[in-house]
Amino acid sequence: MFGVSPSMTLAILSALAEEQHGLVDAMQGMQCLRHAGRDFWLGRLHGHEVVCALSGIGKVAAATTTAALIERFGVRGILFTGVAGGIGAGVNVGDVVIARTFLQHDMDASPIFPRWQLPGYGCSTLACDEAATDRLVQAADSAVRSGIVASYASARVHQGLIASGDQFVSSRQASAQLRADLEAAGHAVLAVEMEGAAVAQTCLDYGTPFAAMRTISDRADDSAHVDFSDFVRTVASRYAQRVVLDFLRQTPAKKQAVC
Ligand code: ADE
Repeated sequence: MFGVSPSMTLAILSALAEEQHGLVDAMQGMQCLRHAGRDFWLGRLHGHEVVCALSGIGKVAAATTTAALIERFGVRGILFTGVAGGIGAGVNVGDVVIARTFLQHDMDASPIFPRWQLPGYGCSTLACDEAATDRLVQAADSAVRSGIVASYASARVHQGLIASGDQFVSSRQASAQLRADLEAAGHAVLAVEMEGAAVAQTCLDYGTPFAAMRTISDRADDSAHVDFSDFVRTVASRYAQRVVLDFLRQTPAKKQAVC
């Protein structure tokens, strides 16, 4: 993954501008290209050719950005950083979740197809690239253990299923219902957000490797909106920068390497 392909460029996709500032600031030889109503920041980061972009919020915006990254910039892999609401047991604010699989929690074409199944795909869950995800887990473990965010010294790294939908989940009842429904169908969900499954589906269509990390900003309950942007600036962006740096260090920059 993130190995041999005609293009050497890796994409780093973030949900929010606050998260990406540090990464864009650290780029060398940076230039901004506007395409499909979005800004794409091209340059070098830790020895890699990269393009940084904002996914936009929600599944359609994220799918459009992903298609543009693949079609226009020919990226060889996509790494997503963002925040999510924790809904799994023990998934707390300040923890980091690395996605192994994604599911669209608002996909429901029943009774024609089983709930959550993606029509035409024959499955409900979409897998992330295994090798890149392993590297992301290592990078996140090291970031969390280093205690870069002192106020979350007991933060943990989780890996598993993230559910995406066009909805900011902000009530205890809604998150408990979603978790119960998914668990009853055998889907042990860790977190909810609004873009990842769309990026995963687009990447599957194009055969582009994809990996994703999310820092837990809230518990998807009645106080989910509180201090959201403050959290992104002071916690999530610090993890994102550190984890992306570590991830890039472990990722082969040259064409000869395949993971
Ligand atoms: N991103 C961060 N928190 C979220 C929530 N509670 N619901 C959906 N997306 C989120």
